[in-house]
Amino acid sequence: MAHLLGNASDAAGSQYRRWLPACGVPVKPYYEQDGIAIYHGDNQDVLPDLEGDALVTDPPFGIAWARATWDDDTTAYGAKMQWLVTESQRAVRNGWCFVFQAMPNVARFHEWFPEGWRIYAACKNFAQVRPTGIWHSWDPVVFWANGEAPRNKDGTEGVNRDYFVGNVAGVFGDRNDHPCPRPRDTMEHIVAIASLPGRTVLDPYAGSGTTLVAAKNIRRRAIGIEIEERYCEIAARRLDQTVLQLGV
Ligand SMILES: C[S@@+](CC[C@H](N)C(=O)[O-])C[C@H]1O[C@@H](n2cnc3c(N)ncnc32)[C@H](O)[C@@H]1O
Repeated sequence: MAHLLGNASDAAGSQYRRWLPACGVPVKPYYEQDGIAIYHGDNQDVLPDLEGDALVTDPPFGIAWARATWDDDTTAYGAKMQWLVTESQRAVRNGWCFVFQAMPNVARFHEWFPEGWRIYAACKNFAQVRPTGIWHSWDPVVFWANGEAPRNKDGTEGVNRDYFVGNVAGVFGDRNDHPCPRPRDTMEHIVAIASLPGRTVLDPYAGSGTTLVAAKNIRRRAIGIEIEERYCEIAARRLDQTVLQLGV
């Protein structure tokens, strides 16, 4: 069932519809309210028509993850990441890009991501102790700047800390039917360092919408793309439950 909420999604003056001219027909966002929009579709079709000030996204892991309901193919993964980097360079001309990754692929990052990439550590306060080593207690988030990324008033980088210990237990409090929602506090931290208030953050692998909820919470605009409608529905419901902070 399509989640047609938001008074603006049917309005002729939708600010997001005009960003999709290449499709030939107007594409209506699945959700559009309070500066946050969700497109239901394949990001390969939708992202080429979008622009933003930062990219914060959590793609498939590329490790044939058993619980993935999407294609988590390992062989085509490098090409997907290279596509994402190329698109980011078009869509975010001057800004930060943060892309969640999985530790088993760490040796390939230099093939996929632009020169100068670094790793932000998305740590977990409730690590799952497994016999497989450390990689269940934090996830690498590859980040880089396209063009002139925003800086602090004193000229230093906006990214002033490259780790955050997220409340993973809080994810269970937020429990939804997506198999791997990110901790909301981690996403708020990343969105905060990646973008300035009022600016637009793109998430082309939106899942249950944690990036979008984080953006709304800290007064950013955001556009998400998600291929599975049931996850769009969860994201839309979560956004409806999030009270808009003043000043967006
Ligand atoms: C790792 S999950 C993101 C989870 C998200 N960070 C959250 O907190 O819920 C990746 C998401 O990308 C979606 N996805 C995979 N391929 C896609 C595509 N080609 N276009 C749009 N979404 C896609 C999947 O359905 C999945 O929900």
